[in-house]
Amino acid sequence: MSKNNYTPASDRYTNSVGYQKCGKSGLQLPRISLGLWHNFGEVDDADEALKMIHFAFDHGITHFDLANNYGTPFGSAEKNFGKIMKDQFSSYRDEMIISTKAGHEMWQGPYGDGGSRKYLISSLDQSLHRMKLDYVDIFYSHRYDPETPIEETMGALSDMVKQGKALYVGISKYPTEKAQEAYRILRENGTPCLINQDKYNIFTRQIEQNVLPLAKEQGVGFIAFSPLAQGMLTDKYLNGIPENSRAAHSYGFLQKNQITPEVVSRISKLNEIAFQRGQSLAQMALAWCLRSSDVNSVIVGASSVKQLQNNIDAIQNTEFSSDEMWRIGELG
Ligand SMILES: NC(=O)c1ccc[n+]([C@@H]2O[C@H](COP(=O)([O-])OP(=O)(O)OC[C@H]3O[C@@H](n4cnc5c(N)ncnc54)[C@H](OP(=O)(O)O)[C@@H]3O)[C@@H](O)[C@H]2O)c1
Repeated sequence: MSKNNYTPASDRYTNSVGYQKCGKSGLQLPRISLGLWHNFGEVDDADEALKMIHFAFDHGITHFDLANNYGTPFGSAEKNFGKIMKDQFSSYRDEMIISTKAGHEMWQGPYGDGGSRKYLISSLDQSLHRMKLDYVDIFYSHRYDPETPIEETMGALSDMVKQGKALYVGISKYPTEKAQEAYRILRENGTPCLINQDKYNIFTRQIEQNVLPLAKEQGVGFIAFSPLAQGMLTDKYLNGIPENSRAAHSYGFLQKNQITPEVVSRISKLNEIAFQRGQSLAQMALAWCLRSSDVNSVIVGASSVKQLQNNIDAIQNTEFSSDEMWRIGELG
């Protein structure tokens, strides 16, 4: 595929997933972003991965979310994405928002895990090398590390921005009181927190209590990960575990034992509500996350262009009646 095959920019942005300002920043994010946690590593179908990146970009998905440890083996999603960037997207870099993260275990020894300055700065250098980039748009602390002073972790993030290696910084999966501290320190450092990334879907709603209201109050954006509960909030597990699904893969993060009869019964009832709305269950699950403008974007995963196409159409209807909200709430 050559860059000459791209959809003209006017179509890409006119008939697209739409954009929203991230918190109180000036940065607009697409309402649907693409995550490269699964399906873009060394063990995955490289042709389909390439097609998904093209399809996403052609439909206005400007944001691609990565981390140092994405792909099997770790780092392979960044490496594959870097090759695609260099070969086919280098002239489109300014139309793209690329994020990466460090925080979970990446390499052996005391410097390949956690929130130390040593780990985060070395890891970003490695990520830039793998992705063949000069800078990332967003760098995240991937988790709160109770073993490292939060000032050290935030200081490392701030210095990345000051060194021009990241344009913005964010945090992921921080306990609320630690998120509050992080926001304060980053603001004092002159590098305000752009965004908080946490899990949010029909089955996992904890962030509604504190994380989301705090982000809103502090002008920090919010982006939801695993909006489809890793594929459980689709119709794929209604009749067993398909061979080529995440739950079937030995290297996938979703375990077969999570697909219990009780979960399948809830999925089946949700599927009926989606049908009544004229949506697939995947579309309804994404629309449900996007019903509030407090969620700036959802990061979907996909293993095929067909899935991505289905997901993008979620944006057509993000309104829910109070009756639908109640029925979905009962099944969450
Ligand atoms: N910050 C963090 O700690 C963190 C943690 C997790 C994820 N994330 C980010 O969030 C992104 C998304 O997470 P996720 O992959 O768990 O997201 P997800 O959107 O909840 O699940 C994606 C999976 O759902 C299935 N799927 C997607 N669309 C479908 C459709 N239309 N019909 C049927 N099945 C469909 C596919 O599974 P099959 O492979 O079975 O086809 C796909 O791999 C990640 O890539 C990553 O960028 C961040």
